[in-house]
Amino acid sequence: MKKVLGLIISHRKLGNSELLVKEIMGSIPQECNRELIRLTDLKIEPCKACYKCLQPDKICPVKDDFNFVIEKIKEADALVIGVPVYFLGPHGYYKMLTDRLVGAQNDTKSTQGKPCVIVMPYGSKGWEGYSKSAAIVMPKLLRMKLVDCWQVHATLPGESLLNPENISYAQTLGRDIFTGREYHPGTRECPVCGSDLFRLLPAKQVECPICGARGIIKEDCIPVWTDSDYHRFSDQMDKHFKRWLLEMKMRFSAAKDQLKDLQKSYRDQSWWIKP
Ligand SMILES: Cc1cc2nc3c(=O)[nH]c(=O)nc-3n(C[C@H](O)[C@H](O)[C@H](O)COP(=O)(O)O)c2cc1C
Repeated sequence: MKKVLGLIISHRKLGNSELLVKEIMGSIPQECNRELIRLTDLKIEPCKACYKCLQPDKICPVKDDFNFVIEKIKEADALVIGVPVYFLGPHGYYKMLTDRLVGAQNDTKSTQGKPCVIVMPYGSKGWEGYSKSAAIVMPKLLRMKLVDCWQVHATLPGESLLNPENISYAQTLGRDIFTGREYHPGTRECPVCGSDLFRLLPAKQVECPICGARGIIKEDCIPVWTDSDYHRFSDQMDKHFKRWLLEMKMRFSAAKDQLKDLQKSYRDQSWWIKP
């Protein structure tokens, strides 16, 4: 039987993220085992940058609920994420979770190609900010198939489902999740990852800050994308991390003593405060 995991990243009980995720998951026609995690109820610590998770068969050594969450994501056949917009980006817990994926993005055999739906309620039109671009990073790192990153205008708890069109679209996403449906970016979105933010470069060039794809701005500000197959989430990503890790290990061995010396002079400046 298929397993579907709903990941709610909002403290608000029965809020828009929760209701939208439940409507999507409830509409999946296949017989499936449904599970929900409210990330904000769990303990997720910041990444400690120890890189232990990059070693073969090593899990993250931080004692919190991260390993439970990532195992559940790996076990699932599909992932439905509900994450609201908080101050122009996705809820901070989403970034905390994304930062913890150093090991998981390096070994994506359990997540690659699996469908992922993101639904992002936001309360104020024009205040979506960079939320969509930031939200797609997590499924891209895990090499999941993005079915949609759906931004839903709704402020009050549960208000999103007062609109019958939202109910209907949530049901469509649920019905489609196992059909192979994939997100098709629009003409003003990055054709590789779907990001709707761009970095302007000289000579009318434009770069997607999320995946690194490049294009040239043509008429009506619509970029035409270059043929180069470089983008961060291609096979280059694996190579990048493996090569980078190896380089860093070698550089660290060579520079260890010099770095210790440098750090020594700052050790006594203990101006830390805590409540
Ligand atoms: C701290 C905070 C910051 C918010 N920032 C934004 C924002 O920048 N843009 C926006 O459109 N809505 C913002 N909202 C509104 C929420 O995105 C909106 O109410 C959403 O429906 C909440 O989803 P939920 O019910 O699943 O928690 C913010 C809400 C909170 C509590």
